[in-house]
Amino acid sequence: MISSLRDKARRAVSVIRFGLLTLRYAGLRIALQKLGHQLYGRTVFLYSGGNINPSPPPRILTITARATEEDVQEMFAQMRNESNAGKYELLIRKWYHERGLGTPYVQKTTDTNEVCSIRWVVTSEDIKKAGFENRYPELREGEIMFENTYVLERFRDRGIHSSSNMGELMTGLGFKHNKVFIAEDNIPQLHYMIRRDRRVYARVLERHFLFRVTRKTLEQYDPPISAAPFLEKISGDST
Ligand SMILES: CC(C)(COP(=O)(O)OP(=O)(O)OC[C@H]1O[C@@H](n2cnc3c(N)ncnc32)[C@H](O)[C@@H]1OP(=O)(O)O)[C@@H](O)C(=O)NCCC(=O)NCCS
Repeated sequence: MISSLRDKARRAVSVIRFGLLTLRYAGLRIALQKLGHQLYGRTVFLYSGGNINPSPPPRILTITARATEEDVQEMFAQMRNESNAGKYELLIRKWYHERGLGTPYVQKTTDTNEVCSIRWVVTSEDIKKAGFENRYPELREGEIMFENTYVLERFRDRGIHSSSNMGELMTGLGFKHNKVFIAEDNIPQLHYMIRRDRRVYARVLERHFLFRVTRKTLEQYDPPISAAPFLEKISGDST
Protein backbone atom coordinates (compact mmCIF):
# COMPACT_ATOMS: atom_id res chain seq x y z
CA MET A 1 0.00 0.00 0.00
CA ILE A 2 2.71 2.47 1.07
CA SER A 3 4.98 1.43 -1.76
CA SER A 4 2.14 1.86 -4.27
CA LEU A 5 1.47 5.37 -2.91
CA ARG A 6 5.18 6.08 -3.11
CA ASP A 7 5.20 4.91 -6.77
CA LYS A 8 2.25 7.13 -7.58
CA ALA A 9 3.92 10.14 -5.91
CA ARG A 10 7.17 9.45 -7.78
CA ARG A 11 5.27 9.21 -11.06
CA ALA A 12 3.41 12.44 -10.38
CA VAL A 13 6.67 14.29 -9.63
CA SER A 14 8.22 12.90 -12.82
CA VAL A 15 5.20 13.99 -14.92
CA ILE A 16 5.20 17.50 -13.41
CA ARG A 17 8.95 17.84 -13.91
CA PHE A 18 8.67 16.72 -17.54
CA GLY A 19 5.80 19.17 -18.11
CA LEU A 20 7.84 22.06 -16.68
CA LEU A 21 10.86 21.12 -18.81
CA THR A 22 8.65 21.00 -21.92
CA LEU A 23 7.27 24.44 -21.09
CA ARG A 24 10.74 25.82 -20.52
CA TYR A 25 12.43 24.38 -23.62
CA ALA A 26 9.69 23.78 -26.18
CA GLY A 27 7.37 26.68 -25.33
CA LEU A 28 3.74 27.11 -24.28
CA ARG A 29 2.11 25.93 -27.54
CA ILE A 30 3.90 22.57 -27.61
CA ALA A 31 3.51 22.14 -23.82
CA LEU A 32 -0.28 22.60 -24.09
CA GLN A 33 -0.49 20.37 -27.16
CA LYS A 34 1.44 17.57 -25.44
CA LEU A 35 -0.50 17.99 -22.19
CA GLY A 36 -3.71 17.53 -24.19
CA HIS A 37 -2.22 14.41 -25.79
CA GLN A 38 -1.30 12.98 -22.37
CA LEU A 39 -4.83 13.59 -21.10
CA TYR A 40 -6.37 11.96 -24.18
CA GLY A 41 -4.33 11.07 -27.24
CA ARG A 42 -4.05 8.38 -29.88
CA THR A 43 -1.10 7.53 -32.13
CA VAL A 44 -0.88 4.62 -34.54
CA PHE A 45 2.49 2.94 -34.81
CA LEU A 46 3.77 0.39 -37.26
CA TYR A 47 5.53 -2.41 -35.48
CA SER A 48 8.13 -3.47 -37.98
CA GLY A 49 11.58 -4.86 -38.52
CA GLY A 50 13.89 -6.95 -40.60
CA ASN A 51 17.21 -8.69 -40.77
CA ILE A 52 20.19 -6.57 -39.86
CA ASN A 53 21.98 -5.79 -43.14
CA PRO A 54 25.02 -3.71 -44.08
CA SER A 55 24.31 -0.03 -44.77
CA PRO A 56 24.34 1.56 -48.23
CA PRO A 57 27.28 3.85 -49.12
CA PRO A 58 27.06 7.09 -47.14
CA ARG A 59 26.33 10.48 -48.67
CA ILE A 60 27.97 12.13 -45.68
CA LEU A 61 30.76 10.39 -43.80
CA THR A 62 29.95 9.42 -40.25
CA ILE A 63 31.09 6.92 -37.73
CA THR A 64 28.72 5.19 -35.33
CA ALA A 65 29.84 4.02 -31.91
CA ARG A 66 28.54 3.17 -28.49
CA ALA A 67 28.02 6.53 -26.82
CA THR A 68 29.81 7.75 -23.75
CA GLU A 69 27.73 9.73 -21.27
CA GLU A 70 29.54 12.87 -22.56
CA ASP A 71 28.37 12.09 -26.11
CA VAL A 72 24.78 11.75 -24.89
CA GLN A 73 24.98 15.00 -22.97
CA GLU A 74 26.54 16.71 -26.03
CA MET A 75 23.54 15.55 -28.04
CA PHE A 76 21.08 16.86 -25.44
CA ALA A 77 23.00 20.16 -25.31
CA GLN A 78 22.19 20.58 -29.03
CA MET A 79 18.57 21.07 -27.98
CA ARG A 80 19.17 24.81 -28.02
CA ASN A 81 19.64 24.72 -31.83
CA GLU A 82 16.53 22.63 -32.59
CA SER A 83 13.01 23.80 -33.41
CA ASN A 84 10.49 23.63 -30.56
CA ALA A 85 9.20 20.31 -31.90
CA GLY A 86 12.78 18.99 -32.02
CA LYS A 87 13.42 20.20 -28.47
CA TYR A 88 10.40 18.21 -27.32
CA GLU A 89 11.61 15.11 -29.17
CA LEU A 90 14.97 15.38 -27.42
CA LEU A 91 13.30 15.89 -24.02
CA ILE A 92 11.43 12.62 -24.50
CA ARG A 93 14.69 10.88 -25.29
CA LYS A 94 16.27 12.42 -22.18
CA TRP A 95 13.36 11.08 -20.12
CA TYR A 96 13.88 7.53 -21.44
CA HIS A 97 17.66 7.83 -21.05
CA GLU A 98 17.28 8.83 -17.40
CA ARG A 99 15.15 5.71 -16.92
CA GLY A 100 18.04 3.69 -18.30
CA LEU A 101 16.21 2.27 -21.31
CA GLY A 102 18.77 0.69 -23.61
CA THR A 103 22.31 1.46 -24.70
CA PRO A 104 22.90 4.72 -26.58
CA TYR A 105 24.81 4.87 -29.87
CA VAL A 106 25.81 8.10 -31.57
CA GLN A 107 26.90 8.96 -35.08
CA LYS A 108 29.60 11.57 -35.50
CA THR A 109 30.73 13.30 -38.66
CA THR A 110 34.17 12.07 -39.58
CA ASP A 111 35.47 15.48 -40.68
CA THR A 112 34.30 17.68 -37.77
CA ASN A 113 33.68 14.96 -35.14
CA GLU A 114 30.27 16.44 -34.30
CA VAL A 115 27.52 14.30 -32.82
CA CYS A 116 24.73 14.32 -35.44
CA SER A 117 22.46 11.44 -34.45
CA ILE A 118 21.56 9.20 -31.56
CA ARG A 119 19.55 6.01 -31.03
CA TRP A 120 19.20 3.43 -28.31
CA VAL A 121 19.60 -0.32 -28.71
CA VAL A 122 17.08 -2.09 -26.50
CA THR A 123 17.29 -5.76 -25.54
CA SER A 124 14.71 -7.89 -23.77
CA GLU A 125 16.70 -7.47 -20.51
CA ASP A 126 16.57 -3.67 -20.91
CA ILE A 127 12.79 -3.82 -21.29
CA LYS A 128 12.44 -5.87 -18.10
CA LYS A 129 14.89 -3.67 -16.18
CA ALA A 130 12.97 -0.50 -17.11
CA GLY A 131 9.61 -2.20 -16.31
CA PHE A 132 8.27 -1.51 -19.82
CA GLU A 133 6.97 -5.04 -20.57
CA ASN A 134 3.46 -3.67 -21.17
CA ARG A 135 4.72 -1.30 -23.91
CA TYR A 136 7.15 -3.53 -25.76
CA PRO A 137 6.84 -6.84 -27.59
CA GLU A 138 8.69 -9.88 -26.39
CA LEU A 139 12.06 -10.11 -28.13
CA ARG A 140 13.44 -13.48 -29.11
CA GLU A 141 17.07 -14.50 -29.00
CA GLY A 142 19.15 -12.46 -31.48
CA GLU A 143 16.51 -9.68 -31.65
CA ILE A 144 16.88 -6.07 -30.58
CA MET A 145 14.92 -2.87 -30.94
CA PHE A 146 16.25 0.44 -32.22
CA GLU A 147 14.50 3.07 -30.23
CA ASN A 148 14.25 6.85 -30.16
CA THR A 149 16.44 7.52 -33.18
CA TYR A 150 17.04 11.23 -33.61
CA VAL A 151 19.03 13.07 -36.28
CA LEU A 152 19.73 16.74 -35.52
CA GLU A 153 17.64 18.95 -37.80
CA ARG A 154 20.57 20.59 -39.58
CA PHE A 155 21.83 17.13 -40.62
CA ARG A 156 18.50 15.76 -41.87
CA ASP A 157 17.82 14.34 -45.32
CA ARG A 158 21.52 13.88 -46.05
CA GLY A 159 21.53 10.12 -45.61
CA ILE A 160 22.80 10.16 -42.02
CA HIS A 161 20.17 7.74 -40.75
CA SER A 162 20.34 5.48 -43.80
CA SER A 163 24.10 5.17 -43.74
CA SER A 164 24.81 4.56 -40.05
CA ASN A 165 26.97 1.50 -39.55
CA MET A 166 24.69 0.17 -36.79
CA GLY A 167 24.06 -2.93 -38.88
CA GLU A 168 27.71 -3.92 -38.85
CA LEU A 169 28.05 -3.09 -35.14
CA MET A 170 25.01 -5.13 -34.15
CA THR A 171 25.92 -8.11 -36.33
CA GLY A 172 29.32 -8.02 -34.63
CA LEU A 173 27.54 -8.35 -31.28
CA GLY A 174 25.62 -11.40 -32.52
CA PHE A 175 22.25 -9.74 -33.19
CA LYS A 176 20.44 -10.76 -36.36
CA HIS A 177 17.10 -9.02 -36.37
CA ASN A 178 15.94 -5.56 -35.36
CA LYS A 179 12.48 -4.29 -34.57
CA VAL A 180 11.15 -0.81 -34.33
CA PHE A 181 7.98 1.17 -33.73
CA ILE A 182 7.45 4.05 -36.13
CA ALA A 183 4.56 6.47 -36.25
CA GLU A 184 2.54 5.50 -39.33
CA ASP A 185 2.82 9.06 -40.71
CA ASN A 186 6.62 9.33 -40.36
CA ILE A 187 7.50 9.89 -44.04
CA PRO A 188 11.34 9.72 -43.78
CA GLN A 189 11.12 6.49 -41.76
CA LEU A 190 8.68 4.95 -44.25
CA HIS A 191 11.08 5.79 -47.10
CA TYR A 192 13.89 4.24 -45.10
CA MET A 193 11.87 1.08 -44.42
CA ILE A 194 10.98 0.62 -48.06
CA ARG A 195 14.55 1.16 -49.23
CA ARG A 196 15.92 -1.27 -46.61
CA ASP A 197 13.12 -3.79 -47.15
CA ARG A 198 11.82 -3.57 -43.60
CA ARG A 199 8.50 -5.36 -43.05
CA VAL A 200 5.44 -4.33 -41.07
CA TYR A 201 4.20 -6.92 -38.56
CA ALA A 202 1.32 -4.97 -37.07
CA ARG A 203 -0.48 -1.65 -36.67
CA VAL A 204 -0.57 -0.73 -33.02
CA LEU A 205 -2.71 1.92 -31.38
CA GLU A 206 -1.10 3.77 -28.48
CA ARG A 207 -3.64 5.43 -26.23
CA HIS A 208 -2.87 8.07 -23.66
CA PHE A 209 -5.52 8.65 -21.05
CA LEU A 210 -4.90 10.73 -17.95
CA PHE A 211 -1.12 10.19 -18.22
CA ARG A 212 -1.47 6.41 -18.57
CA VAL A 213 -0.30 4.64 -21.73
CA THR A 214 -1.74 1.46 -23.21
CA ARG A 215 -1.08 -0.26 -26.53
CA LYS A 216 -3.48 -2.37 -28.53
CA THR A 217 -2.86 -4.26 -31.78
CA LEU A 218 -5.24 -3.08 -34.49
CA GLU A 219 -4.06 -5.33 -37.33
CA GLN A 220 -1.59 -8.14 -37.50
CA TYR A 221 0.15 -9.00 -40.79
CA ASP A 222 1.15 -12.62 -41.25
CA PRO A 223 3.22 -12.78 -43.39
CA PRO A 224 4.53 -9.26 -42.66
CA ILE A 225 3.98 -6.68 -45.42
CA SER A 226 5.91 -3.87 -47.11
CA ALA A 227 5.68 -0.30 -45.79
CA ALA A 228 4.87 0.96 -49.32
CA PRO A 229 1.04 1.00 -48.94
CA PHE A 230 1.37 3.15 -45.79
CA LEU A 231 3.49 5.71 -47.65
CA GLU A 232 1.09 5.66 -50.61
CA LYS A 233 -1.82 6.29 -48.25
CA ILE A 234 -0.15 9.39 -46.75
CA SER A 235 0.86 10.69 -50.19
CA GLY A 236 -2.73 10.12 -51.38
CA ASP A 237 -4.18 11.85 -48.31
CA SER A 238 -1.94 14.91 -48.75
CA THR A 239 -2.74 15.49 -52.44
C1 LIG B 1 13.50 9.96 -39.22
C2 LIG B 1 14.94 10.51 -39.19
C3 LIG B 1 15.73 9.69 -38.19
C4 LIG B 1 15.56 10.37 -40.60
O1 LIG B 1 16.91 10.80 -40.53
P1 LIG B 1 17.68 11.39 -41.82
O2 LIG B 1 19.14 11.26 -41.58
O3 LIG B 1 17.15 12.73 -42.14
O4 LIG B 1 17.22 10.34 -42.92
P2 LIG B 1 17.95 10.04 -44.30
O5 LIG B 1 18.54 11.30 -44.85
O6 LIG B 1 18.85 8.87 -44.14
O7 LIG B 1 16.69 9.65 -45.19
C5 LIG B 1 15.98 8.44 -45.03
C6 LIG B 1 14.93 8.38 -46.11
O8 LIG B 1 13.93 9.37 -45.84
C7 LIG B 1 13.81 10.29 -46.92
N1 LIG B 1 13.56 11.60 -46.29
C8 LIG B 1 14.36 12.22 -45.40
N2 LIG B 1 13.79 13.38 -45.01
C9 LIG B 1 12.61 13.48 -45.69
C10 LIG B 1 11.56 14.43 -45.72
N3 LIG B 1 11.59 15.54 -44.97
N4 LIG B 1 10.50 14.18 -46.51
C11 LIG B 1 10.43 13.06 -47.27
N5 LIG B 1 11.40 12.11 -47.28
C12 LIG B 1 12.47 12.32 -46.50
C13 LIG B 1 15.13 10.22 -47.65
O9 LIG B 1 15.00 10.60 -49.00
C14 LIG B 1 15.47 8.75 -47.50
O10 LIG B 1 14.73 7.98 -48.42
P3 LIG B 1 15.48 7.13 -49.56
O11 LIG B 1 16.30 6.10 -48.80
O12 LIG B 1 14.36 6.53 -50.33
O13 LIG B 1 16.32 8.11 -50.29
C15 LIG B 1 14.95 12.04 -38.84
O14 LIG B 1 14.09 12.71 -39.73
C16 LIG B 1 14.55 12.33 -37.41
O15 LIG B 1 15.37 12.30 -36.51
N6 LIG B 1 13.25 12.64 -37.18
C17 LIG B 1 12.73 12.98 -35.85
C18 LIG B 1 12.67 11.82 -34.92
C19 LIG B 1 12.05 10.58 -35.54
O16 LIG B 1 11.06 10.63 -36.24
N7 LIG B 1 12.70 9.42 -35.24
C20 LIG B 1 12.30 8.14 -35.78
C21 LIG B 1 11.35 7.40 -34.96
S1 LIG B 1 11.93 6.94 -33.38
